[in-house]
Amino acid sequence: MRILLPATVALVLTTEAAAQSAAASPPSVFVVPQWAFPTQLPPPADPFPTADSTTPRRIPGVARTFTQKEAYNRFAPADWVPAAHPPAPGPVAQGRRPVGFACAFCHLYTGAGRPENAPVAGLPVEYIVRQVRAFRDSTRLTANPLSQVNSMHAMARAFTDAEVEEAARYFAGIVPTRRNRVVESATVPRHKVTGLLYVMDGAGSEPIAGRLIEMPEEAERHELHDPTVAYVTYVPPGSLALGAALVRDGPAGTMTACTTCHGPALLGVGSIPPIAGRSPQYLLRQLLNFRAGARADSGSAPMRLVTEAMTLEQMVAAAGYVGSLAPAAPGDRQEP
Ligand code: HEC
Ligand code: HEC
Repeated sequence: MRILLPATVALVLTTEAAAQSAAASPPSVFVVPQWAFPTQLPPPADPFPTADSTTPRRIPGVARTFTQKEAYNRFAPADWVPAAHPPAPGPVAQGRRPVGFACAFCHLYTGAGRPENAPVAGLPVEYIVRQVRAFRDSTRLTANPLSQVNSMHAMARAFTDAEVEEAARYFAGIVPTRRNRVVESATVPRHKVTGLLYVMDGAGSEPIAGRLIEMPEEAERHELHDPTVAYVTYVPPGSLALGAALVRDGPAGTMTACTTCHGPALLGVGSIPPIAGRSPQYLLRQLLNFRAGARADSGSAPMRLVTEAMTLEQMVAAAGYVGSLAPAAPGDRQEP
């Protein structure tokens, strides 16, 4: 399925605010950077052509084993650490055949998600339901300049409202744990795109050149849908201090501080989602989606204004800094 962006979502945007300030400060044109949306083209017809169904695979510290084929089962994905999450309801663990894959296949049973989709643990029920509806009615698209395919559209249409609500309650009840490490560096290890993900590739490094690059520390564990694999994000030197200042103060006179709406520790307020400690690459993609108007659902207006006041450098800094924070308050405990 291919979803095209409405004509209003141009890849090169000139906002009114930017145009007004053009005289004072240059860039009046905002270009959505392709590197923020790693995309293998053409997409692999079968993402798992050589999935092996005989060799038992392991992840560190876990007794149970799964073959690759079992780990990639879209309607019963491998549950490596059942003790790490409450009993999963049908939509999360089995999905709805033939089109609706189990939510856990992409977002994992823990809701930790993967950089190519989204962390969903601990999001407000109301927010999850609203976002799935926005995917369903295509008011939430993607600003990816190379491909407008967004697997959540098919998923959102495959499930009933009751099933989405059931899944939303499940994920909302899970306390997220930290999996991110954010590193400031003038260089980033050599990498390549597989599917919608960056993975390390060989020795050596290249200049970071203003980018934010998130990768699994161990690609094979990521591929096995290991919920405990760690991720590392590279950002340019100075990003964390710049991000901290943006979150606290907002850039002078132009933007409301992130904490005003997302809460003092950025753990969310009411139906405004938590952002702390979530995948930096996911966070950056969303800032770009708001900025490009690709997220245009009813709740998106505040973030469209916020991102119109931001440069790409500021978005990279904010995503890196916010992603480096603790994803839950110290006292937060999972319901047994
Ligand atoms: C085939 C993979 C896949 C499956 C299965 C899947 N999702 Fe997603 N989901 C995605 C991707 C990819 C995104 C990120 C989309 C984007 O960035 O625009 C996403 C994003 C989301 C978001 C947005 C999170 C946020 O913070 O705004 C929610 C909510 C969500 N999914 C819920 C679900 C639920 C509930 C299910 C099961 C009923 C499900 N998803 C099944 C791939 C999947
Ligand atoms: C005026 C209130 C407001 C301010 C200020 C604000 N946000 Fe938001 N933010 C929201 C709302 C509301 C949403 C949910 C949008 C929706 O429903 O589409 C959101 C969503 C987001 C998302 C998407 C989360 C997801 O799960 O997909 C990100 C990322 C984000 N905000 C980052 C920031 C950052 C970084 C800042 C500061 C630079 C900031 N926000 C400032 C209100 C705000």
